[in-house]
Amino acid sequence: MARIPLIAGNWKMHKTVGDAIALVQALKREPVPDGVEVAVCPPFTALSDVSRALEGSAIRLGAQDMHWESQGAFTGEISPIMLRDVRCRYVIVGHSERRQHFAETDEAVSRKVRAAFAHELLPIMCVGERLDERDAGRAEAVVTRQTEAATAGLEPQQVGRLVIAYEPVWAIGTGRSASAEEANRVIGVIRGLLSERFGGAAAETRILYGGSVTPDNAAEFFWQPEVDGALVGGASLDTTKFLTIVRAARP
Ligand code: PGA
Repeated sequence: MARIPLIAGNWKMHKTVGDAIALVQALKREPVPDGVEVAVCPPFTALSDVSRALEGSAIRLGAQDMHWESQGAFTGEISPIMLRDVRCRYVIVGHSERRQHFAETDEAVSRKVRAAFAHELLPIMCVGERLDERDAGRAEAVVTRQTEAATAGLEPQQVGRLVIAYEPVWAIGTGRSASAEEANRVIGVIRGLLSERFGGAAAETRILYGGSVTPDNAAEFFWQPEVDGALVGGASLDTTKFLTIVRAARP
């Protein structure tokens, strides 16, 4: 089965509710290209309004994080049930900014991935090495460890629905992307690993590239056979840039 490319915008800690609605209204003016999936991941405060603004549109809604418990005494957290309540389809888990600044562990990422599936949310699970790890020749070892931990205990059928984003930490928000060939190579390593553990389901797992994707470099990534789309940060905050990246995607 051919993998449907996904272009997901990670808005991070940007946009008030009003700004978020204005952005999706502008995105909605252009139809989503055939054979391509587009998602936006606004901050929690805007999810409900953006969800309403997206009614009747093919653009999907995602959240940027969640807790793995359904409810409870976890001040400041958001549960999978709450994300389903505002009609999220996707949830980003294990973004490097959460791993780095909020001490998120492989174990927590694994719990979140399992909780997402339990609540019919599709995780966009992020992996990627830091610059010191790459310089020490450990890039593959790091993404292997992260991928193994996050997929432990999953059924092959879930692995086929999982989205992984390979985002080298040194490429995020720096304007210095990985080369398309290197992104393709590492994504191939990730798929090989999934294939050893989960068999044919790995051929269905969508694996995106993320890290300084722009209108100028997006097409190069999308030409690569292993790259199934992009997780876009900075450029997703600008309608023209994001739509140009979406148009570069190819089924
Ligand atoms: P960037 O962020 O496109 O701004 O580099 C990507 C991400 O963090 O998902």
